[in-house]
Amino acid sequence: MTDDIVARVGQREYPEKSDGIFMNAASWGLVPRSAAEEAASLTLRKGRIGAFREEELGGIQRRCRAAIALLLGVDASEIALAPNTSFGVNLAVALVSRGPKGRILVSQGEFPANVLPWMTLESKGFTVDIVPTGKDGLPDEPEILRRLDGEDVRAFAVSAVQYASGHKADLSTLGRACRERGVLFCIDAIQALGATALDARAVHADVVAAGGQKWLCAPWGSGFVHVRKELQTHFDPPMVSWLSLEGAMRLGHGERYALNWHDDARKFELATLGLQDYLGLARSVEVLLEVGVERIRKHIQTIHEPLLDWIDAHPEVKLVTPRDPVRRAGIVSFATPSTERSANALAQAGVVCSVRAGALRLSPHFYNTPDEMAEVVSVLERTV
Ligand SMILES: Cc1ncc(COP(=O)(O)O)c(C=O)c1O
Repeated sequence: MTDDIVARVGQREYPEKSDGIFMNAASWGLVPRSAAEEAASLTLRKGRIGAFREEELGGIQRRCRAAIALLLGVDASEIALAPNTSFGVNLAVALVSRGPKGRILVSQGEFPANVLPWMTLESKGFTVDIVPTGKDGLPDEPEILRRLDGEDVRAFAVSAVQYASGHKADLSTLGRACRERGVLFCIDAIQALGATALDARAVHADVVAAGGQKWLCAPWGSGFVHVRKELQTHFDPPMVSWLSLEGAMRLGHGERYALNWHDDARKFELATLGLQDYLGLARSVEVLLEVGVERIRKHIQTIHEPLLDWIDAHPEVKLVTPRDPVRRAGIVSFATPSTERSANALAQAGVVCSVRAGALRLSPHFYNTPDEMAEVVSVLERTV
């Protein structure tokens, strides 16, 4: 039964059969038809007199926050809409900058968006401690846990899934260690959400940041940041938005110009947003929830199988992503004896994927099938 809903929603949302095979959700995910239509329709209606009512605006944002909150298992009051992952990471940096100085832990190999904002704290007396990867090139979690024991650690920032290797972090162990030590735990979830479940409370997340453009299959420029309720209270937004204040829309009644913030994560949203894109995000998350993230995870793992079997049968091909399904989400990265030749052959065969850190990165989603992966494998077989 489970496969039925994956296929049924897949056919409904991606009705056009294309000649190629798209396995590049780690760069951008295919927007479901209903999400694209809702986003486009809002823009079209905005161009027609009387087709759009101002009251709709708040509803779009509420719907989007609610969908994301369901996905993360949190309250909608903990979700602020944001245009990308970087917004949320920078918010976490601002939060930490107001506390005592100390060390920020990150792993070598992280995507720059999850490291560079933290480096701005170095001029304020903090140190960014970049933990070397293990011999396998993956985040060295035992070493990270050891360094978390240092007294001066203020924050640990990690990608739930690494963009190049596809390594999936043990978030609950890392998060528990952070919470026990009062270290802020900041998760960049863009390579995980939509492909695998992330329960923000269960993993003790303080901040979760993600753009919607990849595995959430949303339009570019849509995303969110989750800020744990308890942290919101004593933390004023680093940038002021007129819409973040109570009664912001009561205009023309004698402006009071008082910084009285919303008492939830809306206070972190930065004024007027690209609403059509958040409507797209709301709908795409609803589609993913309709299929079920756990079903999607299992479906993706099934798609991985033909590729992993092929890699197992070729000792000259090096698997970069962990073989253990617990340590993998949607990405499988591997290097062939000539990754460039393999990449060219795939491109010529109409397979859309990426090369990262010298390895091919395939990132199938629920709209892909095991048959497509079998075709990918047959192309690869001709190149080694
Ligand atoms: C782990 C990770 N974080 C962040 C980003 C992008 O950040 P932003 O959404 O701010 O552009 C990417 C990919 O582009 C990524 O792979």
